Amino acid sequence: MIGTLNEPIVRCTDDDPSAVSSDVLCVPVFVDEHTDFLRRLDGATGGNVARGRESGEFTGKLHERFWTDVSDASWLTRRILLIGAGDREHFDSDRARSIAATAGMSARSHAAHRVVLVCPPPTEGTGAHQALAEGLVLGAFRDVRFKSRATGSGALREVCLLVDSKQLSRAIDEIERGATLAHCTNLARELANEPGNLFTPRVFASRAVDLVTGPSTTVEILDEEAIAARGMGLLQGVAQGSSEPARVIVMRYEPPEAPVGGPVLGLVGKGVTFDTGGISIKPADGMDRMKRDMAGGAAVVCAMRAIGALAPPIRVVGVVPAAENMPGGGAIRPGDVLTAANGLRVEVLNTDAEGRLILADGLWLAQTLGATHLVDIATLTGACVVALGHHASGLVGNPSGWVDTVRRVADGVGERVWPLPTFDAYESQLESDTADLSNIGGRAGGAITAGLFLKSFTGGLPWAHLDIAGTAWYEEETADHPKGASGTGVRALASLAIALAPSAREDTVHAPVD
Ligand code: BES
Ligand code: MN
Ligand code: ZN
Repeated sequence: MIGTLNEPIVRCTDDDPSAVSSDVLCVPVFVDEHTDFLRRLDGATGGNVARGRESGEFTGKLHERFWTDVSDASWLTRRILLIGAGDREHFDSDRARSIAATAGMSARSHAAHRVVLVCPPPTEGTGAHQALAEGLVLGAFRDVRFKSRATGSGALREVCLLVDSKQLSRAIDEIERGATLAHCTNLARELANEPGNLFTPRVFASRAVDLVTGPSTTVEILDEEAIAARGMGLLQGVAQGSSEPARVIVMRYEPPEAPVGGPVLGLVGKGVTFDTGGISIKPADGMDRMKRDMAGGAAVVCAMRAIGALAPPIRVVGVVPAAENMPGGGAIRPGDVLTAANGLRVEVLNTDAEGRLILADGLWLAQTLGATHLVDIATLTGACVVALGHHASGLVGNPSGWVDTVRRVADGVGERVWPLPTFDAYESQLESDTADLSNIGGRAGGAITAGLFLKSFTGGLPWAHLDIAGTAWYEEETADHPKGASGTGVRALASLAIALAPSAREDTVHAPVD
């Protein structure tokens, strides 16, 4: 079945490395590192480790790999993989995640089923164990669901982190959290990689029901009648060029421990299952990528799943407006005026600026469901890719305290986001001759004006908008990630719920949240 969880079991142990049975034992090694453990490995490999280092084949440079067999029969692993960890002074949780991902990817491509990773001694409080668990699971991900012929190596079945005994009790919680976040990130990758013909708004909705429903989480699907009844005219407008009806996925996480009157986090994700541009149609070249125009929605769905599993004491509502942007006979035309659920009239000057239309109604819905703090996430503008490239998501929002909180939390889990300026002058680019506002603000500052369009639908609540157009998928494979959907946003949004939860606020959020 497509989209089922095929994720490795994650565990940890403080056993001696020689006593842990596996297909490959991965050992991160820093530049110029000389430890007793490396000398032991040299002994177990009949001198191969020292030979590899003396010849310069392995220096410890970041992501370098060196495979060798184990000759000492008393070891329960048959192969060792040394992984370059770079300079020790640059080791942090981002490096830890990346090194572990290299381990997962290499093991996966060498047909290993059971992998052990030796955790380098972490610096206190860096969350390195969580990052190592995340990296290992993220690196082991490969999407072969649509390959009907065997692809060589099978899936990784079990990953085990080898932890120093003194660290074990603390590491266990971190590793569990990391594994959950990475599993859910991989799920978001799977959803975003699915082709538009098989992954319509209705399919998206039923997948969300399966993935997110849990002890404290309910999922409700709004169909076209429910959407019309709420007056969500912007979403309706986008969907009307397609024979596939729109859906809104509404997820509510309501743990009994959440204090009455506490904050309610509202997450809204763009769920355009395919974006042709509509009547303002896109060029053919690269249009296939627009099957991933629901990556923001996938991030919200999978973050809601992670939140349900991690169970922070805070209420969270997730809203994913889902539609297909097609140029059918019923499609909206440039110049059409649509009425939003909050009553504002929008002149659609470009039907390819559809994401902000469906998000606007989604943000309104999140407010009616009681959200006190809003975050939306969307593959919204090509302009954001021009501004920031592929290494950071754009961040627009208000007030600055909330924007900073979102930035810090995302950064802490290795998802880089960068704030864009929001001076009033940008907002005037959205003025319309005909209606209350236009859905485009011209080429200049396109990522900013797209964000500011949404501001009119946030009801003055603290709100942050993440433009993931440049970060939602990888164009190329590297040493620490495969090609295809990245699953970005899952870790940041789930971690934001944890950071905003009343009991955690004092420890993890060092600035006011609004
Ligand atoms: N989904 C696209 C944005 C996009 C572009 C995401 C490239 C990922 C990669 C969005 O709906 C869109 O078409 N935006 C337009 C807006 C314009 C018409 C104002 C764009 O960026 O060109
Ligand atoms: Mn578009
Ligand atoms: Zn789009």
